[in-house]
Amino acid sequence: ITNKTNNSQKNRLIIVSNRLPIVLSKDNKGRWQAEQGSGGLITALAPVLKNRGGLWIGWPGTSRAHDKKALESVFTRAAGDFGYTFEPVFLPESLVNAYYFGFSNQVLWPLFHDLQTRCDFSPDYWNAYQKVNEIFARTIAQNIKSQDDHIWVHDYHLMGVGQALRKLHATAKIGYFLHIPFPPLDIFLKLPWRFQILESLLCYDMIGFQTQRDRRNFVQCVHAMLNHIRIKGRGQVLSTQVNGRMVRVGNFPISIDYNEFAKKAGTRAVEKRVDEIRAVFPSDHLILGVDRLDYSKGIPERLLAFRNALQRYPELEKKISMVQIVVPSRQRIPEYENLKHEIEQLISEINGTFTRPGWVPIHYLYQGVDRTELTALYRAADIALVTPLKDGMNLVAKEYCASNIHLDGVLILSEFAGASSQLYKHALLVNPHDIEGIADAINQACHMGLDERKKRMRALRKIVKKTDIYWWVDTFLKAVFSHDLDTLGPLED
Ligand code: ADP
Ligand code: F6P
Repeated sequence: ITNKTNNSQKNRLIIVSNRLPIVLSKDNKGRWQAEQGSGGLITALAPVLKNRGGLWIGWPGTSRAHDKKALESVFTRAAGDFGYTFEPVFLPESLVNAYYFGFSNQVLWPLFHDLQTRCDFSPDYWNAYQKVNEIFARTIAQNIKSQDDHIWVHDYHLMGVGQALRKLHATAKIGYFLHIPFPPLDIFLKLPWRFQILESLLCYDMIGFQTQRDRRNFVQCVHAMLNHIRIKGRGQVLSTQVNGRMVRVGNFPISIDYNEFAKKAGTRAVEKRVDEIRAVFPSDHLILGVDRLDYSKGIPERLLAFRNALQRYPELEKKISMVQIVVPSRQRIPEYENLKHEIEQLISEINGTFTRPGWVPIHYLYQGVDRTELTALYRAADIALVTPLKDGMNLVAKEYCASNIHLDGVLILSEFAGASSQLYKHALLVNPHDIEGIADAINQACHMGLDERKKRMRALRKIVKKTDIYWWVDTFLKAVFSHDLDTLGPLED
């Protein structure tokens, strides 16, 4: 597909993800309303469905079953506003607790980010995960209208949906994409349900990963654990036979709607906000961090690095300011609540030590910001600090580049973000555990001349533009549904 014409396409796209791309809330009269949610998956896929039409199946984020009726009209209205339809999967609260907060976010999330000490391998979580994956499969089966429908299941919450659909005798082709990293063998082996997870994944027709690193880890796990299966081939898509069916395994770095961000960055509303932000932060270098509240994002390490830069480069006093925006996430999990306190404590400690009359080093917002504000912050920031300990891709890095229409910003990027597989040559790469290394990169960015900044940013933008979200969808769908693997172009990874 392209981002211009595609409504005429005959294949209906059915996106399936844990969460629908909307957040439901009640207005002051107690009526439900829908707004677009945040998070990488939504940022990436919402423009695609908006552009192409189709169906999105997912959990509506509420367990209040008695509200189902009231919600129907919200979904109908939202379909009009968003340009595609929604099929909510209602789940009782107990299942949400064990499947979403439990197995998805206290087993798979930490393990797949190499943080196994944060895992809680409770068997109840696994049972709920299987149950919810079966519920999703039944909903998909009820919504398949034709063999030509393109079914595309997303992320770690739904690894078992393909297998559950096969048990329901679904024969349509099903693509699956994992948005988070796939861990190395010695970490994956810790999972008590490691065989079940691998076998479920192999029920899809295509298993897509963000980077070669993730795909290589998966292939190694399959070869080590299921020695009757051999994944073969070269290039972007490998393949194997499982019970007489061809299964493809590929890597496709996800992206953003580059043109949309670049266009927005040039609007008057953003321009005006950029001027206001710059007036509030008169220091020479504005450094920006934008993250969901998550321990995988390396926020405390980043703050320590900022402090280290102030200590080791005292000439930066009053010359640098940092804005750190954190959007609340998975608040019911104690690890997330603890992280919030840790971040707040660190910020108050740093500000307490370094603040001078007329200069507060760190400005902290614990809230989601709208697209105009976010784009203005990206444009106003001289440096973006994107330092996850591990990340599937990290769209913030790409959004920063797309919004940087004056080409004068510097991207400091963790080598463990999937985005580094594409942007490594032109960003300042850092090890997110190396506090002094990040501090040095901050100092280097502050002293980088305009010519070098422009050269780097121009190259970064070129990559993000070329491999934007439409390229990603197109490449993935072609890889799932084409008959001939050789027709696929070379990989930009
Ligand atoms: P993840 O998928 O782990 O959340 P990504 O960096 O890939 O991480 O995607 C995060 C998405 O959420 C980006 O599109 C980013 O713009 C958005 N986002 C993050 N923090 C905020 C915030 N405070 N306000 C609004 N959007 C945010
Ligand atoms: O890929 C990471 C992811 O889990 C996405 O599925 C989602 O967009 C984002 O993080 C936000 O997470 P949650 O849905 O748990 O708020």
